[in-house]
Amino acid sequence: MTVPYEIDHLVKRYDNGVLAVDDLHLSVQKQEIFCMLGANGAGKTTTLMVSLGFTPPSGGTVRISGYDITREPLEAKAHVAYVSENVQLYGNFTAMQNIRFFSELSSRGKMEDAALHEVLARVGLGADAHKRRVRGFSKGMRQRLGIAIAIIRDADLILLDEPTSGLDPKGGLDFMNLLQELRREGRAVFMTTHDIFRAREIADRIGIMVRGKLVRVLETDEIEHADLAAIYTHYIDQMAIQEGGARPDTTALQ
Ligand SMILES: Nc1ncnc2c1ncn2[C@@H]1O[C@H](COP(=O)(O)OP(=O)(O)OP(=O)(O)O)[C@@H](O)[C@H]1O
Ligand SMILES: [Mg+2]
Repeated sequence: MTVPYEIDHLVKRYDNGVLAVDDLHLSVQKQEIFCMLGANGAGKTTTLMVSLGFTPPSGGTVRISGYDITREPLEAKAHVAYVSENVQLYGNFTAMQNIRFFSELSSRGKMEDAALHEVLARVGLGADAHKRRVRGFSKGMRQRLGIAIAIIRDADLILLDEPTSGLDPKGGLDFMNLLQELRREGRAVFMTTHDIFRAREIADRIGIMVRGKLVRVLETDEIEHADLAAIYTHYIDQMAIQEGGARPDTTALQ
C-alpha cells in the first residue's frame, strides 16, 4: 500500500544560510491526521514549501503517494492539495467561478454546478457567497473556499498551514468536523498549528518541531492523557535555555 506522505531525512538550508529543516523524518498514513506544533520559525511552513515543490530540498526526499517531489513533480503534485491563508484564488472571480476553474483542472474532471454548490455549502459558504467576488472575502471565507478546492481535487494528501487561524469559533468547529470527514474518506491530513487544544481534539498523532527537528511525536493513546501544553512548553523552554545552537535535551520526557 502506498503511503500518502513520507519525509525522509529532509534538510532545507536557504541561500542565506538558515537551516530551516534539519534531518526531518516522518510519514502520514491514510485516514490519519498529523498535527505539527512548533514555535515561530521552527520550520513548519518550510517543510510544506519543500513538500509542494515550491523550493528544492538541500538533502533527503519527500514522497507523495510514492512519487518523489523532486524527481516526479507532476505525479507527486497530482496527489496533494494545499490549503493556506494565502490560497491561490482569483480575486476577480466569484467563489463559484474559482471552484469551477479548479474542477476543470482536476484529474477527476469537470463537476456539475450542483455538485460544486454542494461542496461550497459543505465548507460553510452560504448561497449568497457563491456568487460573490472572492476579492471581498474575509480571511476565514478564503480559507473555507481553499478547503472546498482541496476537496474537489480529490487528493490523497491534504497539507494545511495554520488552517484554523482565521476562522471564527463556529468556523473552527465546522472545520474540525470537515477534517474528520476527510479522514473517514481515507485521506491523509498534515496540518501545522499553534492551537494546542484543537490539535489535541483532532489529531491522531502530534509532532513538536524545534529548530527544524522533530523532537517529539505523541501517539494517539498518549494524546488523551498527556499534558500537551506542559510538554510543548518544556521543549520551547529547552530551546530558550540552550540558545546558541545546542540541541534541546529531549531525554526527560521520552
Ligand atoms: N525564503 C526564505 N529565505 C530564507 N530564510 C527563510 C525563508 N523562509 C523561511 N526562512 C527561515 O527559515 C526558518 C523557518 O521558517 P518557517 O517559515 O518554516 O517557520 P514556521 O515554523 O512556519 O514559523 P511560523 O510558526 O512563524 O509560521 C526561519 O528562521 C525563517 O526565518
Ligand atoms: Mg509558518
